[in-house]
Amino acid sequence: MNENFSLKPYNTFGVEAYAKYFTEVTSLDQLQEAINFSHSHHVPLLILGGGSNILFTKDFEGLVIKLNLKGITEQILDQNHVLVYAKAGENWHEFVTYCLNKNYGGLENLSLIPGNVGTSPMQNIGAYGTEIKDTFVSCTVLNNESKEIETFNLEQCKFGYRDSIFKQEAKGKYIILEVVFRLTTAHHTIKTEYGAIQSELENLGIQNPTIQEVSKAVINIRQSKLPNPKEIGNAGSFFKNPSISLKQFEEIKQKFENIPGYSNREMVKIPAGWLIEQCGWKGKQIENVASHKLQALVIVNATGLATGKEIFDFSTQIIDSVKEKFGINLEREVNII
Ligand code: FAD
Ligand code: EPU
Repeated sequence: MNENFSLKPYNTFGVEAYAKYFTEVTSLDQLQEAINFSHSHHVPLLILGGGSNILFTKDFEGLVIKLNLKGITEQILDQNHVLVYAKAGENWHEFVTYCLNKNYGGLENLSLIPGNVGTSPMQNIGAYGTEIKDTFVSCTVLNNESKEIETFNLEQCKFGYRDSIFKQEAKGKYIILEVVFRLTTAHHTIKTEYGAIQSELENLGIQNPTIQEVSKAVINIRQSKLPNPKEIGNAGSFFKNPSISLKQFEEIKQKFENIPGYSNREMVKIPAGWLIEQCGWKGKQIENVASHKLQALVIVNATGLATGKEIFDFSTQIIDSVKEKFGINLEREVNII
């Protein structure tokens, strides 16, 4: 067990914070032992995957467990489908690449998302018209209190936009150990409608893309606007895209006629990046923290010296100015500790 352990290398914002205790586990037995330690020392637990959706605003006065359970297995389901079982500590993009190399379809639009497989159900990760709920079958979890292993199916996970039961009523209660996906082995469904995929494929001179080519296009688009955490600390989109009523949208449109919005029955989803840019934040830096110059929704540790508190306060200023200008509440996507 490590004590007073620096978490700086373990979060993609690259902020300094100390864990009272820290351990990495590679087996279920080690995980159980670590949980017992936290119970006997009466300290809270925090599970860490890749640290790419977390902001430490202070030290953690408990036990941080970095979950490194590894392994991928498969089971052919029928002529067109395979079940793929991946342990929580597998890196997400390496897992996607593994599936693409085997020509298993369904995850290609989710290429290059940082973090681990075990975290993917937490916020039902999504990008370019796909979310994990589209291929998710179930996940195995360890109940922190009863120490029992349980299984959650698709319905039980209550997936929503950047949301699941694990972020809501079951928060902190379960540790996700393994996730099962149902992928295609033939007759793949190619999804190119979203965003810039189609035009990127045209740039690449591709007409009838394979799943591997869709992945390539997604990777190119992501690399063109999202900062690489290895170069500049960040956690991707800091806020969720807000949904407002059609009525509120029409009212705002009277004053800001260019406001973009994607309507879904009576609600309209607004790109938070646009709202933030309109408030003058895009590329703006205050001391060590900035809104990214190519994507206003991404807050970056511009100097590498930012504290979590500084980043949090910067995000509060953004929330306040969007609220003041548009009357819209932005909700943080990143998990704040
Ligand atoms: P961590 O940051 O380690 O953990 C996040 C939360 O989950 C914490 O509260 C932690 O305690 C909890 N947790 C972690 N593992 C477990 C577990 N096994 N069981 C229970 N609780 C657990 N997200 C998207 O959805 N779409 C994107 O397109 C996207 N793009 C991104 C781009 C960049 C450049 C970055 C830096 C991030 C992006 N993200 C995106 C956010 C992030 O990659 C995802 O949320 C990812 O799933 C986080 O995984 P992680 O393992 O790093 O989580
Ligand atoms: N926009 C601006 N200014 C900006 C940024 C965006 O005006 O600085 C507007 C533009 O109108 C643009 C629109 O916002 O067309 C959408 O931007 P983008 O395609 O970059 O997507 P996003 O809505 O900002 C979401 C997800 C990303 C995901 C991409 C692709 C959320 C909170 N974010 O971003 O997920 O990769 O779509 O699907 O839903 C993440 O969750 O961390 C993440 C990166």
